[in-house]
Order: sequence, then C-alpha cells, then structure tokens
Amino acid sequence: LDTVFLIMPEKIRINSPNVRYTEQYIKSQYSYQTTSVCRDGDSYTVTPHTTEFMFRTERAVPKLGVMLVGWGGNNGSTVTAAVLANKLGLTWRTKTGVKTANYYGSLLEASTVSLGSGPEGEVFVPFRDLLPMVHPNDIVFDGWDISSMDLGRAMERAQVLDWSLQEMLRPHMSKLKPRPSIYIPEFIAANQEYRADNVLTGSKAEQVEQIRRDIRDFKQKSGVEKVIVLWTANTERFCDVVPGVNDTAENLLNTIQTGGEVSPSTLFAVASIQEGCAYINGSPQNTFVPGALELAVQRGVFIGGDDFKSGQTKLKSVLVDFLISAGIKPTSIVSYNHLGNNDGMNLSAPQQFRSKEISKSNVVDDMVQSNPVLYKPGEKPDHCVVIKYVPYVGDSKRAMDEYTSEIMMGGTNTIALHNTCEDSLLASPIILDLVILTELCQRITFCTQEDRSFQSFHSVLSLLSFLCKAPLVPQGAPVVNAFFRQRACIENVMRACLGLHPQNHMQLEHKMK
Ligand code: NAI
Repeated sequence: LDTVFLIMPEKIRINSPNVRYTEQYIKSQYSYQTTSVCRDGDSYTVTPHTTEFMFRTERAVPKLGVMLVGWGGNNGSTVTAAVLANKLGLTWRTKTGVKTANYYGSLLEASTVSLGSGPEGEVFVPFRDLLPMVHPNDIVFDGWDISSMDLGRAMERAQVLDWSLQEMLRPHMSKLKPRPSIYIPEFIAANQEYRADNVLTGSKAEQVEQIRRDIRDFKQKSGVEKVIVLWTANTERFCDVVPGVNDTAENLLNTIQTGGEVSPSTLFAVASIQEGCAYINGSPQNTFVPGALELAVQRGVFIGGDDFKSGQTKLKSVLVDFLISAGIKPTSIVSYNHLGNNDGMNLSAPQQFRSKEISKSNVVDDMVQSNPVLYKPGEKPDHCVVIKYVPYVGDSKRAMDEYTSEIMMGGTNTIALHNTCEDSLLASPIILDLVILTELCQRITFCTQEDRSFQSFHSVLSLLSFLCKAPLVPQGAPVVNAFFRQRACIENVMRACLGLHPQNHMQLEHKMK
C-alpha cells in the first residue's frame, strides 16, 4: 500500500516564540483567559484568570475513509458525487451556463478567516489553511444502505444534481454499492419498507459484529488510515431510556447480546466505537443513549451530533442571535417546511416527525436565557415547527418562517422569510466539515502548566456544535446554539493551536489619533 501519511508544508507559518514546528507537531503556548463571576444582589465581582496551555497538533494528515450509514440516500449519494466531481474537476452546462464543481457551503473550504493586516490591508485565508487538515477530494467513501441501489442509480433517484453532470459521474458512481445494513422496521416510518432489500439477518450481536467486520474490510481494502462513521440514514423514532437496558455501557452491551430494544443507529454507534472510529449522528434521534455515551468516554472515541444544521435552523440561530443581541424581543417563532424527498416522506410519520420537532425546538434556548432584560426566568417565545410532505417539490425544500418581536414602547416587528433550495446540497458540505473537523480534533492534544499530561478533547466533541441542530455536549457543559459564538469557538480553538490570541475585532490600531 502507498504511504498513508502526508506531510505538506503549511501555508501559514507563525513567527512567534510561542510556536514551535517539530517534525511531528505544531506546538503552541497559549494563555487562556477566563473570568469567574460572583453575584451579590445586584452587583457582581468579576475576577480574571489565566491558564497556561500547551497545544500540540500532529502535522501528518492521514488518508481518511468515511463510511456513511444511508449511503444511497439523497445526502449520501450527493456528497459522494460532489467529491468525485471536485476531484475530477468537472464542469457541465445547464440552461443558465457552465457550472464548475465547488465546495460552497463548507465552512472549512469556502469561508475565510482574517489573519491580520499586511501592507495591502486585512488578509483573509480559507479556514482550511489554518491547520493541516484532510482535503475533501482525498476522502474515500464507503457505507451501508437498506436499499441495494448502486450509487449511480441512487444519484438519479435523488434528483438533486443536473442531468448532464449525472451522466459524467454515472460510470464512476455505478461501481459503488452500499453494504447490507441493519433494519429494524419499527424505528423508521412504515413507508420506507419498500426500499429495504439490502438488510442483514441474524441476532443484534451478530449484526454489530458484521458492521465491525465491514469497517475493518473497508480499511484494509482501501488502505485508509482512519475511518469515521456518519449516520445520514432516515430519522428514527426516539428510543426510551430504560434503566438496566441502555443506561450504562455495560447494560447496553448486555442488551445487544440478549436482543432487547436497541435502535439501528445505536448499534452502528456501538460497532463504530468498538472499532475506535469516531461516530457522528446527522439525524435527530437519540442514538447516544447514556450507555452509548459512556462507552465512547470509556474507549476515548469521539462522538458528535445531533442532526445537521443546514437551512431553516441555521438561519434561526443567526436571526434570533441578531434580534436578542440587538435588544429586540422575539415573542413568536413559527416555522413551516414542505419537502418532497424521501426524508420528507419518512418525516410524514408522527414518531419520526416528533424526533425532528424536538431537535428543532431547543435552538433558541441559550439565546433567550442570555438576556434577562428581555425575558423573565422561565419565559420563552412561542415556538412552533410544522413539516409537510409534498412530493412534487422533491429535494427542493421550502421553508417559511415568521418571527414576531416586541420592539420599543409596545411596538411589534414581524419578519417573514421564504427560503427555497436543494436540501442535500446544503447538507453535503456540512457532512464534509463534520468529518474533517473530527479528524483534525483527533490530532490535537493539549496540557496545562498544572497538569503536564497531554489529553484530547472530551469524547463528546462539542466543537461540532456549529454544524448541528441539537448540539451534543459533555454532561454539565452549556449548549451553545448561537451561530456566531459557535463559529468563533472553532476559529479561536484553531488560533490557539497556532499560539494566536482570539479574534477580537477591536481594530484599536485604527481608532487611535
Ligand atoms: P434519504 O431518505 O434520501 O436517505 C436516507 C437513506 O438511508 C435512504 O437511502 C434509506 O434507504 C437509508 N436507510 C434508512 N434506514 C437505514 C438503516 N438502518 N441503515 C442504512 N441505511 C438506512 O434522506 P436524506 O435527505 O439523505 O437525509 C438523511 C438524513 O439526514 C435524514 O434523517 C434527515 O432528517 C437528516 N438531515 C438532512 C438534512 C438536509 O438538509 N438534507 C438536514 C438535517 C438532517
């Protein structure tokens, strides 16, 4: 097999006594500043603290394999096709002209960060250039689907990409075939049954073993160094958390052996964690029951989720952040969606819709709680989410939102929005960001001056919050949904790895006489 590690010279070199480049690592000294606050009635005492950190980022970027659960779905086929089209540098004609493959919508590939100022003013670079990371073109895909359709036909079924592009991709895509998957009918909508012609048989324990074998088989045949598993299969109903069944890692593993209730997504998570592969949940269901979470922590494997934050919710996490941080009080938020793809059909069943409703509902909580001037303790805006299945619109999802807010002196402000776009073309770049960020985090370790032993981030990888509707965070950690806070977190953690202070936007040098 070819050498799997690539050491590329970094595009950005830091010129600072706090940063050292060794053959293996970028090492940075970083002063992390926090404040503790004591409240006494109406007054606050604020004490600044500094903790000295050392960050170490491995410079060698491995060859990454990504296994998608639901590979033959709209997202799975679209992300695979998009990477292929980029890799092959494809262009194609549509009625509006020639289009070129790109990664628009990817935080890492298509958005930029400011490095500072040069002789020609402020210098912006793509996010991906900050630290050594996997390029999406180099990702090797594999995966499972309960539908046996090859990826060429699956791409056609999805009706997402332009026909002329599909024609160019089909010879490559048709060679890709999803592996048989775990299918337990009661977890997804009954209307999905007709697709299920590619399913594993045997006990739950045997099926988990097969998934583990599949991961090893893929690794061995493709020569990838690392595998990350990501669920982009249909939304499942929520699973009851039952003491003795799935509340601890030990109980969950026992339940798998005895054949009690465990959802397919949790079975995939367990298999993946047992193989030491990070597992990301792109759908809203509670895959990470306490037992699965404990297993990930015990094995030191990253897990992330839940539910891709692609369209309506992403806008909500921007708009509500804007309103509340501008001192305006949202009092009612109503979101209607209609879509006609297979995801929409699955979500037309009440239990699967309920999973989505829950994941879409909590997104404004942190922003509301951050402003006691506008909201009394426990007060929340009315928040309603409706999803309807309308086959004709296919993957072109419509989202209509109405935000009503109280403004000064009893005034009312209503904002109505209409958004139309291909859902899978929003989700695909998010899938890439999720796996690339997760892989990067696997190469970052850090220690403090007090505790010199290097550690990784917590197994529950909350850094992925920016990309998720219902961010999973370590127990007791605050959940952040606000868009710009989430983005700043990723940017500033990467800057810390380079010994750079957080981005402060003060521009004092331009405010002096
Ligand atoms: P899709 O219905 O086109 O694809 C899902 C695929 O999963 C199907 O091919 C189906 O056969 C397969 N599947 C179902 N159960 C399976 C199992 N147990 N094992 C293996 N494969 C299985 O749906 P789409 O549009 O690709 O979305 C996928 C998921 O991503 C959905 O749960 C959706 O809610 C979620 N999502 C999508 C977003 C978007 O913008 N497209 C945004 C947020 C979440």
